[in-house]
Amino acid sequence: MDKFVPTAEQMEQIGQAAARGVRKGQIVFLSGALGSGKTTWVRGLLRGLDYTGPVKSPTYTLVEPYYLQNFNVYHFDWYRVNDAAELEFLALRDYLDGSGVCLIEWPERGLDLLPQPDCRIKFRFENNSRRLMVACNTDLGEPLCASMR
Ligand SMILES: Nc1ncnc2c1ncn2[C@@H]1O[C@H](COP(=O)(O)OP(=O)(O)OP(=O)(O)O)[C@@H](O)[C@H]1O
Ligand SMILES: [Mg+2]
Repeated sequence: MDKFVPTAEQMEQIGQAAARGVRKGQIVFLSGALGSGKTTWVRGLLRGLDYTGPVKSPTYTLVEPYYLQNFNVYHFDWYRVNDAAELEFLALRDYLDGSGVCLIEWPERGLDLLPQPDCRIKFRFENNSRRLMVACNTDLGEPLCASMR
């Protein structure tokens, strides 16, 4: 699936719509250049799950947990990771145990430590706007992909 997203507001709206497709245990890769809209999409998704606090990229802390009503959402940003060994202290296994939802910016930096994602979202610049490419890899990922169509 491929979708043109003209503005940041619309990126947030698509994230918000995607909240309807979030399921416990999903692992979602968010790939794309710096500033391509990944965190904006995550902010929308969290709004859609009724989280009203601030959402900022955990560039230095590597993970930001959100403890929500039905499950936890873990937002990762691994832009500053040079070597997957830097992620070992995170105890990733605990985040990936299927009880939460993992949204991972810059998953390429830790691929050796990650399972296959349920959904991959690619963010591309298109003039001053963006384009999203969504691919579903598992049955668990299907509702998330469907919610963005
Ligand atoms: N569809 C869009 N059209 C135009 N601007 C957008 C769109 N989506 C997001 N933006 C804007 O792009 C900028 C960067 O967005 P954001 O921080 O979400 O990117 P990112 O992919 O998370 O970047 P990083 O890799 O640095 O974490 C923000 O100013 C945001 O408002
Ligand atoms: Mg970001």
